Amino acid sequence: MAALDTHVPVMTREIIEIFEGQIRPNAEAVFVDATLGAGGHAKAVLERFPRASMTAFDQDADARALASENLSGHMGRVRIIPENFRDIGRLAEGADWHGASGILFDLGVSNMQLVTPERGFSFQDDGPLDMRMNRDDDSITAAELIATKDVSELARIFRDYGEERHAYRIAKAIARARERGESPAATGELTALIRRTLPAPVQRKMGTHPARRVFQALRIAVNSEMEALSEGLDGALATTGHMGVIVVISYHSLEDRIVKRRFLEWVGAGLGGVAAKRPITPSGEEIEANRSSRSAKLRAFIKGDTSDKRKKGRRPDLNESAVGKA
Ligand SMILES: C[S@@+](CC[C@H](N)C(=O)[O-])C[C@H]1O[C@@H](n2cnc3c(N)ncnc32)[C@H](O)[C@@H]1O
Repeated sequence: MAALDTHVPVMTREIIEIFEGQIRPNAEAVFVDATLGAGGHAKAVLERFPRASMTAFDQDADARALASENLSGHMGRVRIIPENFRDIGRLAEGADWHGASGILFDLGVSNMQLVTPERGFSFQDDGPLDMRMNRDDDSITAAELIATKDVSELARIFRDYGEERHAYRIAKAIARARERGESPAATGELTALIRRTLPAPVQRKMGTHPARRVFQALRIAVNSEMEALSEGLDGALATTGHMGVIVVISYHSLEDRIVKRRFLEWVGAGLGGVAAKRPITPSGEEIEANRSSRSAKLRAFIKGDTSDKRKKGRRPDLNESAVGKA
């Protein structure tokens, strides 16, 4: 597994600082990591809060196995749940981690998933067009999705989830390939189809790999990521205790929009406050060291904190936040 263990956790310092603003380092606090991945953030939290316990979710069996290895020194304090975080509210009911002090969502795919060609997430390597994070259930793969959806539905997916300007043209080309009995079943076939479909000047203008947006869209659709995020956030609100913190790192504007709107709704309903009005982004140094962090946006919501300071949306002075510490 060591070669795959290359996921560098994003904005770890900022996450820890936000948790420290609400939770004493020696508290027997309860954390939830909704997206365990390789366990990098989980490890940092467990090290900073040595008396804390953690319940961690990941729907990917490979991620859970890798995280168990990486967290082997802390397993007495960690419980790993093989579930989708969209069910967090239901699963927390009556559980000893209900009323958690801190919940973390680090959305999207891990590097381990991206660099494994057989998972089909990457347009850089050739592999089966799979893209399921959870391969243990009977959900459909990306190949099955593009083999079965009609042109308008495919175009909607590419447009809504990939913000792909050439969505309809690509969807039409897929339908034509299907008629010839050549529906793309591998990542390389889909990438080649997109390259053949879009004229060279259009590809040059895109400023990114011509398949990037379609791949993002398929991944979101295959894993119902937007629905899971919406439900997961509501579940997290129900699961967090008074003055508990929900931290979310998102990697594209569709996710960030959902998080931003949901937090604003909660603030409007008097349920708490945001830690900062604008999203927190990685430092230049972090982006230089880890290019994958460049699109990250962190937002944090503090349940029950309706103080004016946070209502105005300023980043809290973390040293001052003694009120409400667990
Ligand atoms: C960006 S990685 C997390 C990396 C992790 N923070 C670390 O430090 O290693 C996202 C992880 O969340 C998992 N994931 C994404 N959506 C999920 C969902 N709805 N339910 C459960 N796990 C999910 C993915 O399988 C992936 O392993």
